[in-house]
Amino acid sequence: MEDAVLLKDIVKAFPGTVANNHITISVRKNSIHGIVGENGAGKTTLMKQLYGMYRPDEGEIWINGKQVVFHSPRDAINCRIGMVHQHFTLVNSMSVVENIILGRPVLKYGFVDIRRAKKEIGLLCGKYNFDMDLDAKVEDLPVGLKQRVEILKALYLGADVLIMDEPTAVLTPQEITELFVTLKNLRDQGASIILITHKLSEVMQLTDEVTVLRDGRVTGHVFTKDTNEQELARMMIGRGLLLHIDRQEAKIGGKALGVRNIRCKNDDGMMVVNDVSFDVHYGEIVGIAGVQGNGQTELIEVISGINQEYAGRIEIDGQEVLTKSSPWQRRAMGLGHIPEDRQREGSAPDATIEDNFLMTTYRKPEINRHALISRKKALQELEDMVREFKIKIPGYRAKGSALSGGNMQKLIFAREYNLNPRCLIASQPTRGVDIGAMEFIHSHLARMRDQGKAVLLVSNELSEIMLLSDRVLVMYEGKISGEVKAGELSEEKIGLLMAGIVQERGEQDVE
Ligand SMILES: Nc1ncnc2c1ncn2[C@@H]1O[C@H](COP(=O)(O)OP(=O)(O)O)[C@@H](O)[C@H]1O
Ligand SMILES: [Mg+2]
Repeated sequence: MEDAVLLKDIVKAFPGTVANNHITISVRKNSIHGIVGENGAGKTTLMKQLYGMYRPDEGEIWINGKQVVFHSPRDAINCRIGMVHQHFTLVNSMSVVENIILGRPVLKYGFVDIRRAKKEIGLLCGKYNFDMDLDAKVEDLPVGLKQRVEILKALYLGADVLIMDEPTAVLTPQEITELFVTLKNLRDQGASIILITHKLSEVMQLTDEVTVLRDGRVTGHVFTKDTNEQELARMMIGRGLLLHIDRQEAKIGGKALGVRNIRCKNDDGMMVVNDVSFDVHYGEIVGIAGVQGNGQTELIEVISGINQEYAGRIEIDGQEVLTKSSPWQRRAMGLGHIPEDRQREGSAPDATIEDNFLMTTYRKPEINRHALISRKKALQELEDMVREFKIKIPGYRAKGSALSGGNMQKLIFAREYNLNPRCLIASQPTRGVDIGAMEFIHSHLARMRDQGKAVLLVSNELSEIMLLSDRVLVMYEGKISGEVKAGELSEEKIGLLMAGIVQERGEQDVE
């Protein structure tokens, strides 16, 4: 049987980079084919050619045994290729049905026949076991369901090859489980799925075979059943994984951060953080685990000063923080913050990479002594960080928006690390970064703790929480549902607390 897709000797260059350097990949019918590689390996570029968004400089694309040339995504769609992008392309103010039929309106007397479209989409939902309110507005849907709308849209357009570009980066663990069920279901009903990811555990769980890219080239192709994470990591980054982080015994110091009875509401007036109290000491990493949407984001917005509408008390290094203190005032008290939303709070996409780094570095005393800014010294630090963190940048004067998400995350981490705060809040610090950078960030967080600094780590990745934390607090429905102390850490225990099945924390736990 011919392959569903054959990419043959594809070359695609951008000024200064060969993103795809003679890549050949064949995707079998009825299979899930993983394409893995670090940030910048060339995965998205390759897929954009298969989806008709770029033309290859060299090489051939074959679909079902026939050579094709795509001039636009329309051509790819006509060959039954569908793509779900890293960033969704839905119109938020429209309903699910309206979004799905945008690509292919059903006409009846010249009007869009919503009823018929709904019926067809309903049948698709039935076939693939999707539980979906077709009249809901897209903006009201959680991320997992928005993604499902994107998948439905591709299926409605007739896709039998579905490209998923890093689909799990934005999902909760439960949504990931549901997505995997969906993808397996699609495969079992005849589709071919190309799954792009840099998470090796996902590859092992879901795929039938894997192609590994590194620096624009194929460094390996294996059947999933014949490989393991270590081997894939070696092909991906040229070395094996660090399975644990060397760290010293905890030397717990004084109180770095005190949080007492914090309450805050969201825009709809719902109490999303409801009486949260805890301490973080110097020399420890305290993890906050929880399923996304249980108040973690709002809690960190309060502690960091992004949201100043809250009740309760916060102390930094023994000093009380005034409710109305700005994020900058809190930084001056010793609090560093790697924000979870790097597009909105962490970075300025229109500013240059230099300025994105300098926006906090300028406030560092050595650089900003007597208000005299030494741009040269700051830029030297930036260069050191770019080298040390292996941040891929097109140039220091390029706009922040030119960086891939993973590289922007590295830049923000480098910037905050470089400020050397005594207490650091790290929110989803490795979201979207590849395993090389992830290990780098992890070892730097552990190093900060070994140096006697305090770290509050908030992450949806339970494995990250388990790897780094000395102590774990679990948030559920706006409260701390439990605390798991060092020596008692188990994934199962945390999982039960995360799901709200066990709740065990009373206020007496905090002095
Ligand atoms: N539109 C573009 N213009 C210039 N360079 C690009 C463009 N798109 C991607 N690149 C570069 O090509 C390389 C591969 O990028 P990409 O395909 O996005 O990688 P991946 O998806 O594996 O993270 C990177 O070095 C990236 O900076
Ligand atoms: Mg990509």
